[in-house]
Amino acid sequence: MLIPTDVRAYTSRTLSVAVSEALTFQMHEVLAQPRPNHWSRVWPTSVAMSGWLLDQAIGSLPQAALELGCGMGLVSMTLAHLGLRIEGTDREPVALAFAIKNAARNALTGFSASLLDWGGDTGTPTQLLVASDIVYEESAPERLFTLMQTSGLLAPGGRLLLGVPHARTELLDALVARLQDHGYTHLLETRVVPWEGRDEAIDLHVLVRPT
Ligand SMILES: C[S@@+](CC[C@H](N)C(=O)[O-])C[C@H]1O[C@@H](n2cnc3c(N)ncnc32)[C@H](O)[C@@H]1O
Repeated sequence: MLIPTDVRAYTSRTLSVAVSEALTFQMHEVLAQPRPNHWSRVWPTSVAMSGWLLDQAIGSLPQAALELGCGMGLVSMTLAHLGLRIEGTDREPVALAFAIKNAARNALTGFSASLLDWGGDTGTPTQLLVASDIVYEESAPERLFTLMQTSGLLAPGGRLLLGVPHARTELLDALVARLQDHGYTHLLETRVVPWEGRDEAIDLHVLVRPT
């Protein structure tokens, strides 16, 4: 499967997404897609995670990172803004095409996109793995554990940043508990972001794989 270079067949809308007081991205979202269509939207978890990344001390992040389930690409774009080389991945080729378009629209360099389905591929080990609101299917915790730990996508000593809406943490909590059982250190921070006229609480987990 290839990432399409021409997305004119897809109806999209433009929205301004503020990730901090100083930084707003212009994003495309894709409209009217058959389900599952989670990939076609920008989700509030990616806004909270972007804000968290922007708040980290300069120099505390590595030079390169990989995002799982990047959808429209907001978290990857924030990391590109911070100067990282970031590979946005997803199983949905059209999502990646729009993530590329969104990064280009905001004049961001350092972003690349590639297809990665947790069921099959492994990817190249990374020191920073980020994932915003990707744990919602029953099979996700097992697949992600295999990908990150057993297949080694997260390098020893590497950091994993996982975000999930506070309203539905059950599946993600199971994954976090399993990683802790394997010696990962764990920090949790809950952030609130304004979203579509309401406040949305988001859990942000930072896990570090033992060396
Ligand atoms: C709710 S969306 C979140 C998109 C983006 N991270 C955000 O927060 O705005 C979940 C994303 O995970 C991707 N995804 C779900 N299962 C996947 C799998 N098995 N392999 C790769 N990507 C997957 C979907 O295609 C979708 O883009």
